[in-house]
Amino acid sequence: MSNHLQVNDQDQLIIGGVLATDLAKEYQTPLYVYDVLTMRKQMRAFKKAFDQAGQKGAVAYASKAFACQAMYQVVAEEGLHLDLVSAGEIFTAVAAGFPMDNVSYNGNNKSLSDLTFAVESGVGTIIIDNFLELDLLHQVMADRKGQQNVILRVVPGVSAHTHDYIQTGQVDSKFGFDLESGQAKRAYELAENDQSLHLLGLSAHIGSQIFEEDGFELAGQKLVDLCASWDYQPEVLDLGGGFGIAYTDADQPRLPEELVLALLNSVQEQTAQKGMRQPDICIEPGRSIAGPAGYSLYTVGSRKDIPGVRTYLAVDGGMGDNIRPALYQADYQAVLANNVHGKPAEHVRLVGKYCESGDVLIQDQELPVTEPGDLVAVLNTGAYGYSMASRYNRNPVPAVVFVENGLSQLVVRGESLADLTSHDRPYQLPGKW
Ligand SMILES: Cc1ncc(COP(=O)(O)O)c(C=O)c1O
Repeated sequence: MSNHLQVNDQDQLIIGGVLATDLAKEYQTPLYVYDVLTMRKQMRAFKKAFDQAGQKGAVAYASKAFACQAMYQVVAEEGLHLDLVSAGEIFTAVAAGFPMDNVSYNGNNKSLSDLTFAVESGVGTIIIDNFLELDLLHQVMADRKGQQNVILRVVPGVSAHTHDYIQTGQVDSKFGFDLESGQAKRAYELAENDQSLHLLGLSAHIGSQIFEEDGFELAGQKLVDLCASWDYQPEVLDLGGGFGIAYTDADQPRLPEELVLALLNSVQEQTAQKGMRQPDICIEPGRSIAGPAGYSLYTVGSRKDIPGVRTYLAVDGGMGDNIRPALYQADYQAVLANNVHGKPAEHVRLVGKYCESGDVLIQDQELPVTEPGDLVAVLNTGAYGYSMASRYNRNPVPAVVFVENGLSQLVVRGESLADLTSHDRPYQLPGKW
């Protein structure tokens, strides 16, 4: 079971110093809860890896993992940068008062209006993904003074060991400029010669939930080799995110900060071998910061025992608040909040309340006997849960609560039923307009 779990002497789950059952009582379930100190510790561990390697650069939290104003405030407080992927995330960062110079903007299909909004919002660095974006950004900058910092995203052609849907660095990818066909070189020439742009360097992101350093090191080496082959001295190399975490006891990743330290050392060696000046290095971890800090709290409801087949145990959330198991068979572990280490009594399939057979949170979970009304906590759900939430079946998106030093605070209000219809407009029947 996850080693950071805290329990009191009655074996009840504690999150950030507060009883999980008290949080459920105060804020209702389903509920997203974040242990803020766990996130801070990971942010600090990444920064320490940079210090240990004597490496300049930035740790940019990949906000796609979990985005809200409160999170951006914590990120700013810890001195991290932000990596954003939409106008909505940029808007949120501005609203949170985040220092926009420390923001990078990723994504594979930024429109003219996205790029205009990014420039007008003062986004520090735009990570260019394709030729259209180069062209559009040139248009955006046409009537403006100064230069926009840009980085070119390239596809290093590295396949990391992870699920197909979360692989982005292999050649057959929708992201970034291809190396072999010469796209990356052409983009480099265009960006270098564009007076409205200041080219800082290159970026690559090879995938997500990666446990070993080899893929990262290989991608780093490819970027260094590429720059050397163009006789280009980059100011920045951005090596993306993807550092894996343990979702269940079966996962045994190296610590994310160890992967990063190995990566930094490897890039330092590579650049030294090529006789290049050491560029700043940027990384973009998302899951490794938000994931282990997050708990999804649910109330147990109905059950269905099928003799000789299995038991389904249903909770009051599901695929709307955590799509990952349905989307890419992600594994999780859960505990009974009032009896964390209780003697397992049965195997259950933990399912949600959505009208889909695929609405499964955990395929096979051992739990003590539960009663309707008991509280279940699914662990390590902080990344890509809330940020991918939907209103499927017209279920409202649950609230998000931050907990730290024994105090809890609502940071995203849960949606009400009235919120669900607040964007609806009555249909005026034809002929009656
Ligand atoms: C460009 C980029 N950077 C960073 C990340 C964050 O990855 P992770 O949350 O696995 O660290 C992603 C996720 O897919 C990404 O596409």
